[in-house]
Amino acid sequence: TEPDAAPSGPPAFPIPDNVFAEKVVLVEHFTDRLFRFRITRPASFRFRSGEFVLIGLPNAERPVFRAYSVASPAWDEEIEFYSIKVPDGPLTEHLQKIKPGDTVLMRKKPTGTLVHDALVPGKRLYLLSTGTGVAPFASLIRDPETYEKFEEVILVQTCREVGELTYITHLVTDLVNDPLVGEMVEGRLKLFTTTTREPFERMGRITDLMIGGTFFEQTGLPHISPAKDRAMICGSMAMLKDTKAMLEGFGLIEGANNAPATFVIERAFVG
Ligand code: A2P
Repeated sequence: TEPDAAPSGPPAFPIPDNVFAEKVVLVEHFTDRLFRFRITRPASFRFRSGEFVLIGLPNAERPVFRAYSVASPAWDEEIEFYSIKVPDGPLTEHLQKIKPGDTVLMRKKPTGTLVHDALVPGKRLYLLSTGTGVAPFASLIRDPETYEKFEEVILVQTCREVGELTYITHLVTDLVNDPLVGEMVEGRLKLFTTTTREPFERMGRITDLMIGGTFFEQTGLPHISPAKDRAMICGSMAMLKDTKAMLEGFGLIEGANNAPATFVIERAFVG
């Protein structure tokens, strides 16, 4: 195998000590820019739903690693990731070509702030995302702990185009058949998707829709308040900044693993 060829066959380079080398078990492409894939899970790998890991490919002596939220829940036997395809992206230009049987490298230590431990108890949990920022929430909405802690879960994703909503829409639709959380999600998990650049039944950035009140009129949910509502945010740098300002305007306070409060942000994917 050529060192920088698309991944196939056995790894051409030695596997470093601090990484797991796992096999791809499934790849599904949604649009020309988005796909998901699943890999085997090492027996010793533990993580909390909502955390991220660094992943790479065994195609160089010093592989390029990028932060990826684990999109599957902590109980799952496999690990799922949801990825963008960047044409000249150092990792994704190769990652988008993976096939079942290929090897993916995963650093051993997961981390992140989009975890239940970082939020104080509340009635409703808002999961606010744009684009691939929905990935950690794909994990959290499949975790029973989410429904043990919250009466209602409202998952929001804003994307430019309708096709980009497919991953989460299919996942949520299929969740009622899930043996573990199927009964818990009924009537308690709401998915609110919007687009900004292609006509769809709901349009606009979530920040505009919440600040303007349209979101609350359309869903019948009360305005966000620190008494009952908790939130997690994951998206681009600009989205994080604007959504954080919005939640602070509603009276929520940013928390962390060591100082739980009423909302949290994942900063791992930007900057
Ligand atoms: P818009 O089309 O109005 O820019 P991107 O691909 O640039 O990360 O954007 C993904 C989605 O997030 C798009 O629908 C985009 O809307 C929206 N978005 C971008 N910036 C913000 C922001 N600051 N606050 C809320 N939504 C945003």
